[in-house]
Amino acid sequence: MNIGIFDSGIGGSTVLKEIVKILPNEDYIYYSDSKNNPYGDKNDTEIIEICDNIVSMLIDRNCKVIVIACNTASAKAVDFLRKKYSNLPIIAIEPAYKMVHDYANDKETLVMATRGTIESEKFQILFHKYDNEKTVLLPCIGLANLIEKDEKEQIKKYLKENLLQYKNRVENVVLGCTHYPLVKNEIKEILGNVTFFDGAPKLAQHLKYVLEENGLLENNNGKIEFIDSQNSKEKKERFFEILEQR
Ligand code: DGL
Repeated sequence: MNIGIFDSGIGGSTVLKEIVKILPNEDYIYYSDSKNNPYGDKNDTEIIEICDNIVSMLIDRNCKVIVIACNTASAKAVDFLRKKYSNLPIIAIEPAYKMVHDYANDKETLVMATRGTIESEKFQILFHKYDNEKTVLLPCIGLANLIEKDEKEQIKKYLKENLLQYKNRVENVVLGCTHYPLVKNEIKEILGNVTFFDGAPKLAQHLKYVLEENGLLENNNGKIEFIDSQNSKEKKERFFEILEQR
């Protein structure tokens, strides 16, 4: 059987990369929903419908567990999906704000995420639970889309315009969208030597634990099948390039 994983494009490759490190002998189906990118500005009903269709398709393709490798989709759709597909483990990513609380709570923190994630009830609950009162929440409208399209110059310009004001003011940066680890170097160019917090490694450990607990671990070939909702060859190449680079 497979592990099904999806995002609004290739951003979730940053999550899959962490998963494969500790579960190299599982088979994977990665669904890149580039047709519906960005998710960040869609309303809850739209996101729930999109995710419902993807999960149902992944189940038809013999998936034993689903990983939502998208903070926005996790924040808005996971409760619905867990209720509807109650027999299936569904693992969801969230911005690593609790990690800041656990490891660097005394430091000025910038949370970068989509507007959808930051405004979601799920994130607001997490934020208020662990608020260190030295945190700026920054909805990065349009950034995931630029990364998805690999618009290098535009990304640099966007980051400069939106992040420069935080230079020397923040030490922690929460990468609250799975596309953002792909531009860590560009963020460092603006903010200097900040510490990044990314939820993917913890998610990978949790996934392994859930598979163990449910007797679902397998010893397969580590095959990764990539499907893009626009059938984009270019996305496929970029996806495997990212996985290989890391
Ligand atoms: N990569 C996604 C996330 O983690 C979604 C980005 C988008 O489609 O807006 O939030």
